[in-house]
Amino acid sequence: MSNKPLNVGLVGGGKGAFIVNPHQKAIHFDGTRRVVAGALFPDPKIALEEAANWPYPIRGYGSYDDMIAANKSLPEDQKLDYILIVTPNFVHFDPAMKAMKAGIPVFCEKPLCLNMKEAKALVSTAHKLNIPFGVAHTYVGHWTSRLSRYIVRSGLIGDVRWVDSYYIQGWLATKLEATGQQQAAWRVDPKRAGGSGCGGDIGTHALMQLRFVTGLEISELSAQLETFVEGRQLDDHFTIYCKLNNGGRALVRASQICIGHKNDLGITIAGTKGTLEWKQENPECLTIHLPNQPDRVYWRGAVAPGDGFLPKDVPADLMAEPTIPSGHPEAFHDAFARLHRCFEADVRKWKAGEKFNCDGSKYANVEDGLTGIAFLETCLKSAKSNGKRTRFSKI
Ligand SMILES: NC(=O)c1ccc[n+]([C@@H]2O[C@H](COP(=O)([O-])OP(=O)(O)OC[C@H]3O[C@@H](n4cnc5c(N)ncnc54)[C@H](O)[C@@H]3O)[C@@H](O)[C@H]2O)c1
Repeated sequence: MSNKPLNVGLVGGGKGAFIVNPHQKAIHFDGTRRVVAGALFPDPKIALEEAANWPYPIRGYGSYDDMIAANKSLPEDQKLDYILIVTPNFVHFDPAMKAMKAGIPVFCEKPLCLNMKEAKALVSTAHKLNIPFGVAHTYVGHWTSRLSRYIVRSGLIGDVRWVDSYYIQGWLATKLEATGQQQAAWRVDPKRAGGSGCGGDIGTHALMQLRFVTGLEISELSAQLETFVEGRQLDDHFTIYCKLNNGGRALVRASQICIGHKNDLGITIAGTKGTLEWKQENPECLTIHLPNQPDRVYWRGAVAPGDGFLPKDVPADLMAEPTIPSGHPEAFHDAFARLHRCFEADVRKWKAGEKFNCDGSKYANVEDGLTGIAFLETCLKSAKSNGKRTRFSKI
């Protein structure tokens, strides 16, 4: 297999943008991927200026249409191997669709798009063209999320009875958007963010964490979408009580008005034999509570299968995933890097004409993206009827 680094093109990321930064670091993390091009800003002149000022040389384009069109006539070794979409939510669907149709795999920020019509079109196109498509649900990239998934899905804490999956922030506790703050401005605008503000922005991460770790799906929900900051058009507080498809119950909750909470995403899973707890602000360990026993704290890189809780046969590929020994902390950038690393593996298989996974076990895929949008639409429906219990549907 060629060891030539994969070429990545950015859609978005100019002028004070946020999430492009961890992504571009993560792309370069292993030396096997690199950013080579970008359509960084909606205004073509600024987009080209931003590309010229990028910290390392990249090909700048005035628009993603130009970047995708130009790809066709580039020499083979300069063609894009995938694009990364880091624009506000309303600029996900169009570049994703156009890239896939031009034969370029897509790694797209969450939420996948604005509505179910778009989500279904993306899923059916990705399937029809059999092309890799990843969605950037960051927190499933932590090694401890992978270990949590293994523990829960192997039944080590028994049948899941209750899940509390949360993402609590405080940065929108005041009307920050009125100051023109870039990230706040589009997140509270229904045209650019979608039908739910806080739910779309961070509630979808809490949902993904629940689904990734437990393997369970929501079957029914009752939603309260609240707006505490006066004059704001979208919810800034999102509380969803859910029935799970195994009969268990869950709370998927998110808030952006809780002063003091910074990026407080975490999950508690209570099973019939024990409880698992994990928090992304302390992502190097997870805690297992078992009845009448001292708590067990599992640290990334310091796990010993066959210890009386973990069986001897913890999968070798899971044990091989940490990048550095325990005590040398991995965090947010490492989680992003793990997602890009796994996506790269699928892109390389796809390029070689081999079967690729893209099955949601290493990073969220386009179907996970659709499930997030279906969840938001069901929540909006339930909230409109004051939290009426509503069957969760992807139709
Ligand atoms: N996975 C995560 O943990 C995470 C964290 C933050 C944001 N996000 C998601 O990432 C996306 C971007 O969020 P952000 O906070 O970085 O936003 P941002 O406002 O900081 O950056 C968005 C960038 O997109 C550019 N842009 C807008 N329209 C464009 C167009 N037509 N062509 C080219 N560029 C265009 C803007 O100029 C800006 O550079 C959102 O979908 C958000 O939900 C995900």
